[in-house]
Amino acid sequence: MIVGVPTEIKPDERRVALTPAGAAAFRHHHHTVLVQRGAGLGSGFADNEYRAAGARVTDSAAAVWRRAALVLKVKEPQPSEFRYLRPGLILFTYLHLAAERGLTRELLKRRVDALGYETVQLEDGSLPLLAPMSEVAGRLAIQVGGWCLEAQNGGRGVLLSGAPGVRPGKVLIIGGGIAGFNASRVAAGVGAEVTILDVSPVRLRYLNELLNGQAVTLMSNRATLEEELRAADLVVGTVLVPGARTPRLITARMVATMKRGAALVDLSIDQGGISETSRPTTHARPIYTREGVVHYCVTNMPGVVPHTSTYALTNATVPYALEIADRGLLEAGEHNRALRHGLNTWDGKVSHPAVAESVKLKPHSPWD
Ligand SMILES: NC(=O)c1ccc[n+]([C@@H]2O[C@H](COP(=O)([O-])OP(=O)(O)OC[C@H]3O[C@@H](n4cnc5c(N)ncnc54)[C@H](O)[C@@H]3O)[C@@H](O)[C@H]2O)c1
Repeated sequence: MIVGVPTEIKPDERRVALTPAGAAAFRHHHHTVLVQRGAGLGSGFADNEYRAAGARVTDSAAAVWRRAALVLKVKEPQPSEFRYLRPGLILFTYLHLAAERGLTRELLKRRVDALGYETVQLEDGSLPLLAPMSEVAGRLAIQVGGWCLEAQNGGRGVLLSGAPGVRPGKVLIIGGGIAGFNASRVAAGVGAEVTILDVSPVRLRYLNELLNGQAVTLMSNRATLEEELRAADLVVGTVLVPGARTPRLITARMVATMKRGAALVDLSIDQGGISETSRPTTHARPIYTREGVVHYCVTNMPGVVPHTSTYALTNATVPYALEIADRGLLEAGEHNRALRHGLNTWDGKVSHPAVAESVKLKPHSPWD
């Protein structure tokens, strides 16, 4: 199969969907790898490293998209890439379609077989291709949250670690999944007071044991959320309902009750956002202030630490991508149930139930 890797064009996105070592793995399985010139530069990989791994480096994005049967990307196709979408093309990337109805319509109209990394799901419900980026973004959330709290950014000038004789900052993490757990570890590590809210008793019990007194775990409900928001210096939103839009748990009125100069880092913005006041931002202009609260709502946070993120992402995605290239999409899905969940659209139909619901269509799976 011809596997294509275009350069990412989303603003400030420096990750790439395949490392030179990943390209070598595809070559080892007798596939052809086409990499757009400069695709790896942002992550520290030169074109020559891809050539040495057996890949062909081509000049234009159009050549990669048009010749490849399977396109590997990091972020969802941008409007300027829609013209490359064609019937039967297999696209494997982060899609987040529940929050992107326009893109869903394009993929359907152009009959693309599109798999979203974020909906590939194992039998135990875990999301193996979302996890590595959630780990990175969760850890990063505390770093950027601390920056938002700095006075020159409109923050209340609180140092999360506190100082000898001075209270540390209070960090509220809403959603104690992979990103939430990673955020809590870093926050506790710098000495902040950490509270985690979740709706899953099993997850709360697990976190309570794992964090061993380094964080307070609380059942998430409206009253507790309101109370904790009022006390927090930094709020990190990491709620996820797989495939669906994030529930807007925080209202504008609740934001208005928060401390002036507090910060909200909303990771779940890529699924629509946890707050009525959240709107997507970019690395170029990451923050804005609403109701006196500094909001950071970058949809591709790991893109700012591309070296770490590209390795973490491709460690997880390459085995699945190889299976698709080796067997073809239909046979790969027959053998690998996790991949079936990954399929979002195929041949003009929506296949993932949560995505289907967001566009009010009936789901159809090729494996039914
Ligand atoms: N912005 C970015 O750059 C970026 C990067 C990586 C991940 N993310 C996003 O971060 C979010 C979290 O990802 P994850 O991998 O940690 O997901 P996860 O499934 O591991 O965790 C989500 C948690 O939310 C909890 N939850 C569900 N409803 C809740 C509610 N009403 N109140 C409190 N908790 C609730 C679940 O029980 C679960 O523990 C996702 O939206 C993901 O797409 C964003």
